[in-house]
Amino acid sequence: MTTDQTVHALSETWRVAARVAALLPRGGVVALHGDLGAGKTAFVQGIARALGVSRPVTSPTFTLVGEHTGPGGRLIHMDLYRMAGPDDLLAIGFSEYIESGAIVAIEWAERAGDLIPPDAVRVAITLLPDRAARRIQVTLPEPLDDGEQRTPIPQTP
Ligand SMILES: Nc1ncnc2c1ncn2[C@@H]1O[C@H](COP(=O)(O)OP(=O)(O)O)[C@@H](O)[C@H]1O
Ligand SMILES: [Mg+2]
Repeated sequence: MTTDQTVHALSETWRVAARVAALLPRGGVVALHGDLGAGKTAFVQGIARALGVSRPVTSPTFTLVGEHTGPGGRLIHMDLYRMAGPDDLLAIGFSEYIESGAIVAIEWAERAGDLIPPDAVRVAITLLPDRAARRIQVTLPEPLDDGEQRTPIPQTP
């Protein structure tokens, strides 16, 4: 399922992010896409706020990874913009973070290719031409195996 919303202020980005945070299971991954300046870090700040993280969340550009903890849980914030190659993912312990049970938010997620789990929430942000507005598309994964019967089986009379 994809939702599409246009935001005009940071507070609106944070509101969308808080809604996504509320849907995340333990260990949920948020894969963020969008050009430089689109508002990916702002979105991660919104997730952090929703988890009650009090310290400011800035882009972990040089280390690639930042760790934050709030009353709502632990947040791993990755920014893969300066990633030089796949070895960097190994070096930062990418897979260990994904499996750690913390919420993991990843800017420039496309650089991790298919290491992004298939059940990640995808967030694509686009700066609109008037530059005061941004489009945020959120794609939630199909419920993979929630045991729910979706297609009713026809009852034989
Ligand atoms: N919805 C928004 N409304 C107004 N300003 C925003 C919004 N989202 C981001 N910004 C601002 O735009 C700039 C770039 O945002 P940032 O999140 O750092 O982009 P990215 O991480 O995608 O490069 C920052 O100054 C940020 O505060
Ligand atoms: Mg950023």
